[in-house]
Amino acid sequence: MRVGIGPFGMALVGCGSAVPAASISNQQLGERVETSDEWIRSRTGIGARRVAGPDEPLTCLASRAAQLALDHAGWTADDLDLILLATSSPDDLFGTAPRVQGALGASRAVAFDLTAACSGFLFALITAGQYLGSGAMGRALVIGADQLSRWVDWDDRSTCVLFGDGAAAVAVEACGASDNGLLGFRMRSDGSRNACLTLAQLDRHAPLLGGLTAQQGGFAPIQMNGQEVYKFAVREVPAILAELLEATGTTPGQLDWLLLHQANQRILDAVADRFAVPHAQVLSNLAHYGNTSAATIPLMLDEAVKDGRVQPGHLLASSGFGAGLSWGAALLRWSGPRGAAQP
Ligand code: ACO
Repeated sequence: MRVGIGPFGMALVGCGSAVPAASISNQQLGERVETSDEWIRSRTGIGARRVAGPDEPLTCLASRAAQLALDHAGWTADDLDLILLATSSPDDLFGTAPRVQGALGASRAVAFDLTAACSGFLFALITAGQYLGSGAMGRALVIGADQLSRWVDWDDRSTCVLFGDGAAAVAVEACGASDNGLLGFRMRSDGSRNACLTLAQLDRHAPLLGGLTAQQGGFAPIQMNGQEVYKFAVREVPAILAELLEATGTTPGQLDWLLLHQANQRILDAVADRFAVPHAQVLSNLAHYGNTSAATIPLMLDEAVKDGRVQPGHLLASSGFGAGLSWGAALLRWSGPRGAAQP
């Protein structure tokens, strides 16, 4: 057990988000594929999604979200020790986080990407919590950003209606036990079910020399077994949340909000019903943004913080889930900006 006054945990002290300017409604998508607003809304809750334009690459959205989170926390880029970017759709496979670092001018920080699809933000937040809670680092930005419009087959109505682009960031800092905002977590993955949802390298090889070939890089569009992913989500998310609540001695009635990955309103409602949490306490912005993958959780948090629903001290049960398959849960307490007097 840790004693003394050194760092113990991680406080969530700021947030920001950025989405592309262009919004495509369900009706508009109906001009491209055979679908309808009624079909999409009734099965998913999605009404529209944002799609990045040529001047809005992932780095741009992630950097805008990151700067807003810095501003909200009252920090400058020089304060940062760590920038973690959760994404499955990088601008550069060698890493997009350093580009964000460069855009912010956060020269003291180390920046790297973390890939875990729609679980990515939650996994990155938990990862940052280990650096901060151990005292190894003081201040971090955790960003969730995805531009899956790059990797969707826009002629496949079974997937293209689901996804959208966006970025959001949370500013976190080392703190003592009384301010700790990461009260518990669980993480899982199951590669035996990987084929349910993939964005995989093409199996494409070209002659190199002699009898040798070299693989030609490139990815196939998103492939998804929607029904299997749905069954996975409604089984595993309540199970991992129940495990987390029990481990932390928390009752559903103590929660202010459920902050779940925004994949499908039916999944959100099923999880809420499992814990008898009123639907009004289930944060949802699927109608406006669809599934922005690693961005959904911080995008939703930023909206609810800025419109005053989430208040300092509020307790949130969060769960991310998706490709991998991967899933996780965290019990979070929102602190909010700590003011100029704080270190
Ligand atoms: N518009 C109209 N009809 C459609 C559309 C569409 N956009 N898409 C599929 N259909 C049709 C199908 O062709 C099928 O027609 P058929 O009966 O004539 O064959 C019919 O609708 C039913 O298709 P299903 O796939 O069975 O539809 P379902 O009710 O399962 O809903 C959905 C599909 C919404 C995708 C659901 O399975 C789901 O939400 N799954 C979870 C998906 C998810 O959350 N994915 C993201 C995970 S997070 C990550 O890591 C990226």
